Amino acid sequence: MVFKKAIHKGGGSMLRLGVIGTGWITKQFVEAAQENGSWELTSVFSRSIEKAEQFGREFSENVKGYRDLHQFFSEGNFEVVYIASPNSLHFEQSRQAILAGKHVIVEKPACSSPAEMKVLQRLLRRYNNVYYFEAARHFHELNFLKIKETVKQMDTIQGATLTYMKYSSKYDDFLAGNEPNVFSLNFSGGALQDLGVYLVYDAVSWFGLPDSVSYTATKLRNGIDGKGLALLNYSGYTVTLNVGKIANSYLTSEIYGLRETIIMDNAADLADVQLVDGATKRILTQKTAANPMAAEVSDFTSILQDPLSLDNKQKMEDWLAVSVQVNRVLYDLRSSANIVFRADKEFR
Ligand SMILES: NC(=O)c1ccc[n+]([C@@H]2O[C@H](COP(=O)([O-])OP(=O)(O)OC[C@H]3O[C@@H](n4cnc5c(N)ncnc54)[C@H](OP(=O)(O)O)[C@@H]3O)[C@@H](O)[C@H]2O)c1
Repeated sequence: MVFKKAIHKGGGSMLRLGVIGTGWITKQFVEAAQENGSWELTSVFSRSIEKAEQFGREFSENVKGYRDLHQFFSEGNFEVVYIASPNSLHFEQSRQAILAGKHVIVEKPACSSPAEMKVLQRLLRRYNNVYYFEAARHFHELNFLKIKETVKQMDTIQGATLTYMKYSSKYDDFLAGNEPNVFSLNFSGGALQDLGVYLVYDAVSWFGLPDSVSYTATKLRNGIDGKGLALLNYSGYTVTLNVGKIANSYLTSEIYGLRETIIMDNAADLADVQLVDGATKRILTQKTAANPMAAEVSDFTSILQDPLSLDNKQKMEDWLAVSVQVNRVLYDLRSSANIVFRADKEFR
């Protein structure tokens, strides 16, 4: 596929982008960035220089490939890095990016543990002109914000049941005896980290930080969670999260008020949202872009084009505070199910 060079649509400066990882999600991100019109891909890091160059050529003739991370950060002609590597690598790659003065957009989940998160928070205080974002795509969508606003207006909240369970094509590989990264403790994988993170974002953003949490996991042969049920206890109600990568669920998700219920087709891929009260139904669905990463790219763009704005700095700090809470809840959930990553042993 050949992409035209980005057309500069916005009023702000062009943002030069470097990417880590050459999977489909990186492609989707770069496409969203190009559609936004304010980005130019200049540098690609991969374990293979051929792969990096091939990936780059799909977007422009002028992209440079790297297989040495230090060189990528020190010589790469970019100010923003998008990191879409296996989860366990996010921390070290983000750390090196911040040290190199690059703004970071890191795929979810941003870090494996609160210990890693704390190191990055400390570093960000020192390099306080660097922006750091966790790419939690649905968090930036209008449907997500509409639900947040509607929950805020509800007089009574009596809990929620949120589901995100999708059979992963990588599970076929796991069943064949292999260990793909997303089903590996060594790469901080599992259903909770990979898909549960969206639901934890929902809960923390819509209801706040829970008082206590627990996770009952269906573990696979290596101890990773293939699916599971998480309980988030709040004062007066419980939020149930149903996550999985080894089965498909077609359940809708719900938030319970007194008589009214918010119903969404899927708690992470928010396409259809309604407020139902008996026979009365109000459609809350907002317009969404075709590329699921368009909303987050739009938010990151407006901030990064005006990095000196105190409002922008505040926005990033607010989002970082949510990332930190999500990271803590994910850690507490998996700790309750005795899921231990290699990253936990390497980083104490
Ligand atoms: N926002 C979303 O909708 C969404 C969707 C999917 C995934 N994600 C996130 O994106 C990240 C990547 O997911 P993915 O499924 O693409 O992961 P992946 O296929 O396991 O790895 C992603 C890339 O990292 C590199 N890589 C793979 N194994 C590696 C290893 N052992 N050591 C070093 N580098 C390795 C590969 O690039 P090279 O071969 O070029 O080095 C690969 O293309 C994850 O954090 C995931 O949670 C987000």
